[in-house]
Amino acid sequence: MTSRRDCEALDAQDPLAALRAQFTLPAGTIYLDGNSLGVLPASTARRVQEVVTREWGEDLITSWNKAGWIHQPLRVGTKIGRLIGAREGETLAADSTSANLYKVLSAALELIKRDGAPQRRTIVSERQNFPTDLYIAESLAAQHGFTLKLVDAEEIGAHIGAGLAVLMLTQVNYRSGRVHDMAALTRAAHAAGALTVWDLAHSAGAIPVDLNGAEADFAIGCGYKYLNGGPGAPAFVWAHRRHLERMDRDGLWQPLAGWMGHAAPFEFSSAYRPAPGIARFACGTPAVLSLAALECGVDSVLAAEPLGGMAALRRKSLALTNLFIRLVEERCAGHGLELVTPRDESVRGSQVSFARAEGGYAIVQALIERGVIGDFRAPDVLRFGFTPLYLRFADVWDAVEQLRQVLETGQWREARFNVKAAVT
Ligand SMILES: Cc1ncc(COP(=O)(O)O)c(C=O)c1O
Repeated sequence: MTSRRDCEALDAQDPLAALRAQFTLPAGTIYLDGNSLGVLPASTARRVQEVVTREWGEDLITSWNKAGWIHQPLRVGTKIGRLIGAREGETLAADSTSANLYKVLSAALELIKRDGAPQRRTIVSERQNFPTDLYIAESLAAQHGFTLKLVDAEEIGAHIGAGLAVLMLTQVNYRSGRVHDMAALTRAAHAAGALTVWDLAHSAGAIPVDLNGAEADFAIGCGYKYLNGGPGAPAFVWAHRRHLERMDRDGLWQPLAGWMGHAAPFEFSSAYRPAPGIARFACGTPAVLSLAALECGVDSVLAAEPLGGMAALRRKSLALTNLFIRLVEERCAGHGLELVTPRDESVRGSQVSFARAEGGYAIVQALIERGVIGDFRAPDVLRFGFTPLYLRFADVWDAVEQLRQVLETGQWREARFNVKAAVT
């Protein structure tokens, strides 16, 4: 049996412990939801305040040049790129994940069409993929004359074949935390003549990702989860150079061809000419305040680089999730919690989910009242995210102790925990 003292000993030896000081964490809260909304870096409020009062308040419109606002999407994108195996200037921070998916999936479908393989008209995705991805894909499939085929995770390999146009997957499943093998699936898709689109919402800042190493085609992801960019933070978009070069050569547009993706927006030409490289995936004016906050969040993850970077974060993340699984199974046995997340750590993201036939939502609410914040994903999943930047092993022990008490006392049955809020 692991004791709290054992956990404190792990914290004392944790080489990443100092990173916690970067954040403003509310006292008495154990935050197990950084996979949904990352915490607030201490630098963010100062930086946003500076952008508001000095760059906007005093320097006004001159800040587009003077403070470099215009370069923010590529500058912040390049920082995110360091976490996902992109080269400098290959990643753009802009818009939402949904909007970026719309852009890259359209581009992928257009490239397939140009290749003149009329039998290749299926987009394959996982039935359990995050709904926005499925809605966007369904909408694009209808527009472009493709079919969206949804399959279970275990069946994906069997659907990589002659009819496949695009394999569109979220690398780490939002509900189960299961990780797809990006390199192997990309290789298989390419061997079948198809392209891949990867949603890295639960990967960027959570697990090591190597887009170029995997030869992936397109990728998108969220800024407000493990990147700590703040609520509604801009998302990011990446495309492999070979596609960007081809889009340049063939004069291909992305569908949201706004002026900020123009090669020379301040020529105000009435003719669209896409910017070279990833910059063509910009659409309208950058969200300067949100990008400033996102940059602080990304910097909080990059602060791990001198300590071993994503590999070191991954080691601690797995130690935290392994500990959580073990403690829940030791201390909450007999309470109907069923592990949904893979026990095999090589295919586990940075979260742990348990299904429970009854009361999942109410149990999470009771935990939140006790200062342990996780979330609930319908129909029956209690989901807990583990961000190694600030979580301690003793936090894991304390969280499980609260869960044990909620289950043993049956406190979650109280009426107030069973009233569903708009956001779960
Ligand atoms: C896998 C995945 N994709 C996309 C999104 C959300 O996209 P957006 O930022 O456009 O709301 C989420 C949100 O949780 C997600 O989990």
